[in-house]
Amino acid sequence: MAKPKSLFYCTECGNETIKWQGKCPSCGSWNTIVEQPAVEKKRPAAGPVSRLGRRKPKPFAEVEAVDELRFDTGMNELDRVLGGGAVKGSLVLVGGAPGIGKSTLMLQICDNLCRFSSVLYVSGEESERQIKLRAQRLGIRDDGLYLLAETNLDDIVAAVQAQNPDILIVDSIQTIYNEDSNSSPGSVAQVKECTMALMHLAKDMGVTVFVVGHINKEGSLAGPKVLEHMVDCVLHFEGEEHNSYRILRAAKNRFGATNEIGVFEMMDKGLVEVPNPSEAMLSGRPENMPGSCVTCVMEGVRPVLAEVQALLSPSAYGSPRRSSNGFDQNRAMMMLAVLEKRGGLMLSNCDFYVNVIGGLTLDEPAADLSLVVALASSFRDKPVPYDLAAIGEVGLTGELRSVNAMNQRLSEVQRLGFTKCLIPARNSGKIVVPMGLDLVRVSNIREAIAVLV
Ligand code: TYD
Ligand code: MG
Repeated sequence: MAKPKSLFYCTECGNETIKWQGKCPSCGSWNTIVEQPAVEKKRPAAGPVSRLGRRKPKPFAEVEAVDELRFDTGMNELDRVLGGGAVKGSLVLVGGAPGIGKSTLMLQICDNLCRFSSVLYVSGEESERQIKLRAQRLGIRDDGLYLLAETNLDDIVAAVQAQNPDILIVDSIQTIYNEDSNSSPGSVAQVKECTMALMHLAKDMGVTVFVVGHINKEGSLAGPKVLEHMVDCVLHFEGEEHNSYRILRAAKNRFGATNEIGVFEMMDKGLVEVPNPSEAMLSGRPENMPGSCVTCVMEGVRPVLAEVQALLSPSAYGSPRRSSNGFDQNRAMMMLAVLEKRGGLMLSNCDFYVNVIGGLTLDEPAADLSLVVALASSFRDKPVPYDLAAIGEVGLTGELRSVNAMNQRLSEVQRLGFTKCLIPARNSGKIVVPMGLDLVRVSNIREAIAVLV
């Protein structure tokens, strides 16, 4: 049978199929499959036998195992997400929507990296002049910084081999192409091949590589998801269009935990680190307005306060609207049902909107109680006391369940000036009450919503 001239790839996960389908059979995403020329796989002339003797298995005991070498990027928030600095010879993929600030972040880390190492910044998107202008505007130190505007993979590899930099930054992977492959830049095959080549550079030469990757909602570009399994570390740079806060999150990290976040603010002089995210997340919080409640979630080892907002209004149509932003939709629906059945509020014919301010995504059950209180507050049109926070998991019978790291959460709540905090009546572990904070212990949601003034 003749080989097909083109194949179909999923731009989300890179899965290959021979015919088009509406839904990717591998990752289940809809409308992400695109047609692209098939890549001819090169085989060694004499088959696998010719490779004999190239690499031999090593006895476990003989493998050298020194701790990986780390260095600071000069941005604490980035170092924290990387697990305590970047690892020498690793490949880090920084993904995010266009315009979120990936190139700005990469240029800004050059400022510190240039002090003790040589950095090659390869851009397929901007000319050297444009990058220089931007770097000057950002006030980047430039000794030891080399720029290259290039999209051809071979030329980039040649430049790296010739210059042997300590750090290589490639902006962006979707603009780089391999001449030998017949698919277009940005296609699944191209981004995979180029990433693989950069990965080899990183491992063979000990160069630390940062690769920028665009996430494109329409699926016309292959996204960083396709590359996740290849690289050492995947960071997502997220934020809302109309909000200056940006959150950096690790989706995968071979050298550290993935639950840390880094918070930045985009200013006119570039990205500024936000060492105190709780304050940032609560800035502009309305006073005496129904439907808003503050909680504390753990982002890695760091407690962060978040404002949960809810709006309930009588539905004008047959089926009420339900929408949730920043709070897991299923969990939000569960809280709505529990509040109706166990809290005795008639919510079933209300439109329901939930929003978490500041671009945070709350995926911790400890945020349940704050949503329940915010919902009840909106329904009854009574504000939650301004100095009250709520922490606790809510079960299906309306009972409150214990959450972990309560002491850290309580001290953060107290530090930000709150004087009262709702917590589960029987939280496990010994609770050290911070000075000036009154704990309101509640055992179910009926008791919790009684605090509404
Ligand atoms: P950029 O880093 O080019 O985004 P990406 O590489 O992710 O596509 O950032 C672009 C946006 O950031 C742009 O809309 C303007 C804004 N910006 C600032 O607000 N201040 C600055 O100092 C810079 C450099 C950019
Ligand atoms: Mg860019």
